[in-house]
Amino acid sequence: MKRLAILGSTGSIGQSTLSIVEQFPERYSVASLAAGRNLEEALAQTVRWRPRMVSLATEELAGELSKRLRQAGVAGVDVVYGTEGTVACSTLDDADFVVSAIVGVSGLEATHAAILAGKPVGLANKECMVAAGEILTRAARERNVPILPIDSEHNAVHQCMRVGAHAEVKTIWLTASGGPFRQLPLDQFASITPEQALKHPTWVMGRRITIDSATMLNKGLEIIEACRLFDVPPSQVRVTVHPQSTVHSLVEFVDGSILAQISVTDMRLPILYALAYPERPASKLTFDLGALRHLDFEQPDFERFPCLRLAYEAAEKGGAHAIALNAADEVAVEAFLERSIPFTGIPRTIEAVLASTPEAHPATIAEVLAADQLARQMARAFVA
Ligand SMILES: NC(=O)c1ccc[n+]([C@@H]2O[C@H](COP(=O)([O-])OP(=O)(O)OC[C@H]3O[C@@H](n4cnc5c(N)ncnc54)[C@H](OP(=O)(O)O)[C@@H]3O)[C@@H](O)[C@H]2O)c1
Repeated sequence: MKRLAILGSTGSIGQSTLSIVEQFPERYSVASLAAGRNLEEALAQTVRWRPRMVSLATEELAGELSKRLRQAGVAGVDVVYGTEGTVACSTLDDADFVVSAIVGVSGLEATHAAILAGKPVGLANKECMVAAGEILTRAARERNVPILPIDSEHNAVHQCMRVGAHAEVKTIWLTASGGPFRQLPLDQFASITPEQALKHPTWVMGRRITIDSATMLNKGLEIIEACRLFDVPPSQVRVTVHPQSTVHSLVEFVDGSILAQISVTDMRLPILYALAYPERPASKLTFDLGALRHLDFEQPDFERFPCLRLAYEAAEKGGAHAIALNAADEVAVEAFLERSIPFTGIPRTIEAVLASTPEAHPATIAEVLAADQLARQMARAFVA
């Protein structure tokens, strides 16, 4: 029985993880849950799963959750809060495996602490890898702790990599759906509304990642994530636009063979893979190959999606530039969702912040968070 710490339990990945626990009660149980502000969902999950520890974003919310749990007659649950609370959840003695699915860098300290505590991590939170991948992967290597990608593309790459040696890999091909604006005339980009951008053609996800898919900044973050997870330079990671989102990614080997991973567009599959690795439990997440008609692949359009170009630039420089790419995007996406800037203001904000970011390679999580704050301040100033 694997006991899970689920960071970001109230989110899209967190809830999908709990549905896997539900389907495989003989394999998985819940040791701790960490959420942000969704008190009602955190309460329902605590009542249902009876973890030993639950964390919410603030002391006030934690107090309210404790009160509601007492009223519901639920005892024996430690209710904690804030960054310390998330770290306590991820390092809990009872937890054997940590699912890192808090959005943004809020989950960074808890993910790092889990690795330092020797706990295997299933990583959905790509922002952690982008901001602090150098630190996280070094810590994981030193302690021999596996980091198993849950992000569907990296999960696909992980699966394809199992058949060859690292030195035999020529190119990692990340597939991208191209988002909802793949064919929209360029002169209409400035008038894209949040409602249009929140409609992803193939995946149902959280708000930030959905907007990031529409700008393709999400793919940019994934390029950096792939470099760090698989220890390859940016020149070995390429993007191909694949509108069907059926092939989740591919690995090209030096002999000319290309391996692809195909499955349903359902995050429960990569989550199950990460939880069960190296086993493959039987699941009902089957793919109907007979219904498959097209597999299209196109070159990405860097003019339409300037975020991709910016991401390659940040990937080459690494360190503070990768941190700034993520932080500036988060601020810009919020501003776009609040209608303070147009859709085209997202890449403009990122470009301005990257241009003002000094080259640096933070060596600790505290330095990463300081660089993150600096980039956010610059992004807010630019947005204003
Ligand atoms: N969804 C996908 O299909 C998908 C695919 C690949 C990768 N990812 C990555 O997985 C991560 C999660 O994505 P998602 O789509 O699940 O996002 P989401 O639905 O927006 O959920 C985010 C989760 O983070 C929690 N959270 C936010 N701020 C927090 C804080 N300060 N402290 C503790 N918890 C906090 C939220 O809690 P509350 O809701 O309680 O505030 C929620 O549980 C992201 O890094 C995303 O890029 C997602």
